[in-house]
Amino acid sequence: MCAVVRSPFVFMFSRIVFSASPLFSQPSNLPWDGTPRQPQSRVKVGLTNGRILDLAMARIASRISQLTGEGALAVFARAKELERQGRSIIHLELGEPDFHPAAPVVDALRGAVAAGRDRYVSPRGIPALRQAIADYLKQTRRLRVAPEDVLVAPGCKMALSLAMLALIEPGDEVLYPDPGFPIYPSFTRGLGATAVPFFLEEKNQFQPDIAEIAAKISSRTKVLIFNSPNNPTGTVFSDAALAQIAELAIKHDLWILSDEIYARILFGERYKSIWALPGMAERTVIIDGFSKSFAMTGWRLGYAVAPRHVIDAMDLLVLNTFTCAAEFTQVAAIEALRDSTDAVNAMVTEYRKRRDLFVDALNRIPGFRCQPPAGAFYAWVNIGDTGLTAEELATLLLEETGVAAIAGAAFGAAGKNYLRFSLVSAGNLLEEALERIERVSVRWRAAVSR
Ligand SMILES: Cc1ncc(COP(=O)(O)O)c(C=O)c1O
Repeated sequence: MCAVVRSPFVFMFSRIVFSASPLFSQPSNLPWDGTPRQPQSRVKVGLTNGRILDLAMARIASRISQLTGEGALAVFARAKELERQGRSIIHLELGEPDFHPAAPVVDALRGAVAAGRDRYVSPRGIPALRQAIADYLKQTRRLRVAPEDVLVAPGCKMALSLAMLALIEPGDEVLYPDPGFPIYPSFTRGLGATAVPFFLEEKNQFQPDIAEIAAKISSRTKVLIFNSPNNPTGTVFSDAALAQIAELAIKHDLWILSDEIYARILFGERYKSIWALPGMAERTVIIDGFSKSFAMTGWRLGYAVAPRHVIDAMDLLVLNTFTCAAEFTQVAAIEALRDSTDAVNAMVTEYRKRRDLFVDALNRIPGFRCQPPAGAFYAWVNIGDTGLTAEELATLLLEETGVAAIAGAAFGAAGKNYLRFSLVSAGNLLEEALERIERVSVRWRAAVSR
């Protein structure tokens, strides 16, 4: 999950002049705990073995100081430590499905390796997979995408960062959702651009406020990123919001980065992509992949759909960095898209059950308030009425009850009063987590009834 920090391409683009003048004391490749970084005169970088290196001494490029990690990993590390001490932990912190890929996908991988499908292949992906992705998007999203407009990458994050590298210049402004996936502002800053948040607020059912977005567009705004269904709120952007964002994009000549990684994990009607709206195919990059919908997180496979000249630029970036995604995972991914055992629908049915169970019960816990997510597999819970901060509550839940969740500030300033629970554990574990939370809630009940 921290791959961005280690990715070689971050170091490669000497042409890009980063505006990274403020130097920060917080180790920059450790998971970010949500604390704003303070300017300091020396930069330190954390190593995975715990040693801290002085950036100036280590001769690390200053752009690295602009990057942050993911809060989920810090909680995961602590939860694992408690587990090693013999504590029982219910993991609701990471966005990693507890399912594994369907059997035919695993068989296809074995077959591909046995057949010697382990060679260098085309940087933009093997033609059969790009064709399969085009067919899949037609079938599931009614998109008429040509295989030439598809590029395969090792993971959605890599597809996203390639698109950002291809489109964003130092000095540009990039609009992104807050709360949202923390890599959007991090990587934007790493590219020397300014990350400008637009807020998804509970009073608007976490839908974007189009007037706010319009007011934040300047002559420097180049890209608007959004993610629907959104991580962490689970919001599916309404048709009206998509149409209005499209209108703004055309009016101000913006690129749209539409992160559709949760498009299949939907509890309502069929997914609508902004790509399909009039005039949008030429200014939209879709990011999607196999990690969530097909439970293939560790396989590292994602893709982008974009206008051909953007795909050509990304292709050059691939050539200059990782050369290609592994051939055998690409072969197996065709089987995943075929979904011969209907595994995706089975998973979504299970996520829906978990959502109903967990959200209903959370809303009965004093001080908690949670709107049922329309997609993805997260519960985004307002805990403001408990009288505790989200950090205090997350610590209490983990240390005293063994329930791991993430304090919302990890997803941006608007997450200050929220906790994110991932619904990636089976129903019986969710019930156990609810019992534990219920038990410890005596601590804040007095504050709620006041
Ligand atoms: C919104 C969003 N985009 C992208 C990613 C990264 O996906 P991948 O693991 O395929 O790189 C995640 C993973 O949590 C995510 O939540």
